[in-house]
Amino acid sequence: MAIFGYLEIFFFTFTFLLLCAVWGSNKRCRKSSVPTNWPLVGMLPWILQFSHRIHSAATQVMNECGGTFEFKGPWFCNMDMLVTSDPANIHYIFSRNFSNYPKGPEFRKIFQVFGDGIFNADFGLWELHRRTTLSVFSHATFHTSLGRAVWGKVETGLLPVLDSFLKQGVDVDLQDIFQRFTFDNICKLVLDYDPQSLSIDLPYIPCEKAFNDVIEALLYRHILPESVWKLQKWLGVGKERKLTEAWKAFDEFIYPHITFRDGEQNDDSKLLTSFRKAYQEKNKGSSRGLTVFLRDTALNLMFAGRDTTSSCLTWLFWLIATNPLTETKILEEMESKLQLKEDKNWRFFSAEESRTLLYLHGALCESLRLFPPVALEHKAPIEPDTLPSGNYLKPNTRVIVSFYSTGRMESVWGKDCLEFKPERWISPRGGMKHEPSYKFPAFNAGPRTCLGKEMAFAQMKMVAAAIIYHYNIQLVEGHPVIPSDSVILQAKHGLRVRLSRRNV
Ligand code: HEM
Repeated sequence: MAIFGYLEIFFFTFTFLLLCAVWGSNKRCRKSSVPTNWPLVGMLPWILQFSHRIHSAATQVMNECGGTFEFKGPWFCNMDMLVTSDPANIHYIFSRNFSNYPKGPEFRKIFQVFGDGIFNADFGLWELHRRTTLSVFSHATFHTSLGRAVWGKVETGLLPVLDSFLKQGVDVDLQDIFQRFTFDNICKLVLDYDPQSLSIDLPYIPCEKAFNDVIEALLYRHILPESVWKLQKWLGVGKERKLTEAWKAFDEFIYPHITFRDGEQNDDSKLLTSFRKAYQEKNKGSSRGLTVFLRDTALNLMFAGRDTTSSCLTWLFWLIATNPLTETKILEEMESKLQLKEDKNWRFFSAEESRTLLYLHGALCESLRLFPPVALEHKAPIEPDTLPSGNYLKPNTRVIVSFYSTGRMESVWGKDCLEFKPERWISPRGGMKHEPSYKFPAFNAGPRTCLGKEMAFAQMKMVAAAIIYHYNIQLVEGHPVIPSDSVILQAKHGLRVRLSRRNV
């Protein structure tokens, strides 16, 4: 029989079994949420059935299986993986046996658009990125310019734009506002250029919106067989087409800004200047490939700074709006710690002062626990290994760590794990309660812990405080607020709210 004959038989059998399995799992009233492993198609039907709410479906399975679960993909598709949210495994993979768990070649394939930037890098290249980023982030002038940039954007972008919506009496998508805010901020920090996407006319900037398309496509690359997304890419259809377009938008935006002005040659507080030096040192003075390397570096940092903070702020405001008592407590804390009542006036505060806002800090941590912006991590062991949960891993097994599920496990956070309780983070003595990163992995754990954590907390407190002080926020009735199916946990349809003035 000709090769096409075999292929056709295989294709039709596969499709037939897949349809039967999806139909079967829809029809059967099963008590267990653990997916069935069907012949040939494995657990793919379960993914197809729940792809619209994959994070919560995985959490149900994880709760039932004690935090670790072996996923079986279709035969010959290289989709088998271990999914875990168990803090003991997280501690082991991210800290205790860190050197055996790079992100691996599969990760690089999926996140190809990020090139040789820090998120894709392992070993020596990762060390170069980490060292260089850290040296800039710890520069004194970097912190001053960060504070100035955040308050400048609040004053000239955020408040005027929100005021304009208020005057028009129309509702506003807060998520879009936060994404524009963080995009402008991170562009200024990384590229020394403010694209002013947060302006009253809300201009369309392709690169700013491109991030949203990328993070959806990247989740689909995790849950579809590689051959399927590669075929989509080749045909230029579906989420892969959007990913290709987003890639183009990134390049068109970033390349023109990778330039160096006179006098910047030795300015170590500038990110790209430091990276240029580090790259040339590593390559013995050569600049070959430098521009692409700087594009990758910039894109990774823009991604790190835009999507995470804007997502956390979005969920924070949704959680506050659905738990109004917490808003009162945040306001009271601001008024007393920042002496806003005595002065009867709004004032900007420093990153140092923002540390006194403990209840607001607890509220942000709750938002990060329930909706961690980086919802999952991806690792692959070099050597065979056995996890604390007892699961054996062959080299290169794909290990997916669901941070989303860790924050919602009763065995980790107790019976009230699904409730929004900023008090959870306040110690009996009134200070902040520390939780280990393997139990609260929103900023990752171990040597790859987020480098922007402190910066993000300061920025988020400044933005949240400015909005809460100036406006009452009401959710638009009937507007669905649910998590997106993407690697960064955004609100799928945005966060539509109506504003009214609080303190005039
Ligand atoms: C709420 C805000 C934030 C959250 C939840 C967050 C979370 C994370 C997570 C989970 C990782 C690990 C990602 C991975 O390895 O795949 C990470 C890494 C990183 N983050 Fe953040 N991040 C936030 C804000 C920021 C900001 C504002 C910056 C500054 C630009 C930043 C810079 C970085 C960098 C450079 C890394 C790479 C660290 C490494 O691989 O060694 N992050 N972050």
